[in-house]
Amino acid sequence: MSHWSPTSWRDKPALQQPTYPNKDELERVLSELKNYPPLVFAGEARSLKSQLADVSQGNAFLLQGGDCAESFSEFHATNIRDTFKALLQMAVVMTYAGGVPVVKVGRLGGQFAKPRSSDSETIDDITLDAYRGDIINGVDFTPDSRIPDPQRMIKAYNQSAATLNLIRAFASGGLADLHQVHKWTLDFAHQGEVSKKYEALAEQIGKSLTFMEACGITSKSYRTLRETDFYTSHEALLLPYEEAFTRKDSLTGDWYDTSAHMLWIGDRTRQLNGAHVEFLSGVHNPIGIKAGPSMQEDDLIRLVHKLNPKNEAGRLNVIVRMGADKVGDEITGMPRLIRAIEREGMSVVWSCDPMHGNTIKSSNNFKTRPVDSVLKEMKQFFQVHKAEGTFGGGVHLEMTGKNVTECIGGSFVVTEEDLSSRYHTHCDPRLNADQALELAFLIADSLQEAKR
Ligand code: TRP
Ligand code: MN
Repeated sequence: MSHWSPTSWRDKPALQQPTYPNKDELERVLSELKNYPPLVFAGEARSLKSQLADVSQGNAFLLQGGDCAESFSEFHATNIRDTFKALLQMAVVMTYAGGVPVVKVGRLGGQFAKPRSSDSETIDDITLDAYRGDIINGVDFTPDSRIPDPQRMIKAYNQSAATLNLIRAFASGGLADLHQVHKWTLDFAHQGEVSKKYEALAEQIGKSLTFMEACGITSKSYRTLRETDFYTSHEALLLPYEEAFTRKDSLTGDWYDTSAHMLWIGDRTRQLNGAHVEFLSGVHNPIGIKAGPSMQEDDLIRLVHKLNPKNEAGRLNVIVRMGADKVGDEITGMPRLIRAIEREGMSVVWSCDPMHGNTIKSSNNFKTRPVDSVLKEMKQFFQVHKAEGTFGGGVHLEMTGKNVTECIGGSFVVTEEDLSSRYHTHCDPRLNADQALELAFLIADSLQEAKR
């Protein structure tokens, strides 16, 4: 590893990178970014790692969620607040009903760059560069908007900084206080079965808090009742940007990518000798690896050795995204991966991304995901871990606190016809708060069962 540096990825093949037409401007922007303050502090990344080490030992659960892609146009305080509230609701359900601490990680504050299956897009005989996320180019189908523009990295940094600032205020300034548990309900939440379950749980928490208060345990005297630790994460896709934020920690002398607490590698850029793996092998943040059905046991083992040579607990999170029909399959699914990791005696956090393997086209041509498949993949994920004697330790979701209709089904049913009414995503379909809460109850039940 002695030859690693923040730039060593540049000698390896880098997939999914834009070609900037103006190289001088790119260099100017990157040298500016190199002087910008870090978004997170190395000590925070270490705290997250130690909390993830608890997860790897079966003593906590990882909740990671947010937009598929953040966008410049959907940047509002209410969006950030509502997604934060939806995550708190999920977390409190899992903590209380599941009986384990929940490590909270947002897929936000930097989740802008998107891998694409094709470099270009053709509509009616016109071919343009594919949209790669707001940090790179614009979503509008015009020649101008699709040209990669380095200035967008500066805008993405500023938006990430403002997002993180608000999240930090929410996490420690009162909104996350357990006494607010009733207020996390979103205005548009449907008064269905899930809402009733949540209200009942909030009621019980309220009673417990009153009892504890009578015993002298108050929000005022106990920080843990009024605050929560909330971390950020995104896919480390746009390597020049990540490189610019990679700084040497003055306490330990280790390198950290300070654009987020946790970074992950996508299923399309996880080549062992590729640039993305090279880059992430040298930063000390917790790292996620997405594992789709094409992930072979050998690939995974080699990746884990390369990214976590010292087998440090909490360093690696394998995020399995196979689809409801595949995840449990003995030959092609998750069991073979778990067995390979167990055979090698490696420590990883296993989490389930029940979104990306369950994407379909509706009959009216929307990219959507059936909530039933999402729930089914999650359930199977826990069943497989139970059968293998391992711990299913986390969930990775595309979700929002906005009242969207992007995924179909759920206990408050969104139909195919409803998709057109509030389909706002810039990329993949997200669970809305009702649907996310339904999933949280399923997870809480499974965690209870895993304890038994
Ligand atoms: N600090 C604890 C935790 O983060 C308890 C807590 C405070 C909490 N606010 C919360 C738990 C909001 C879930 C949601 O776990
Ligand atoms: Mn996505």
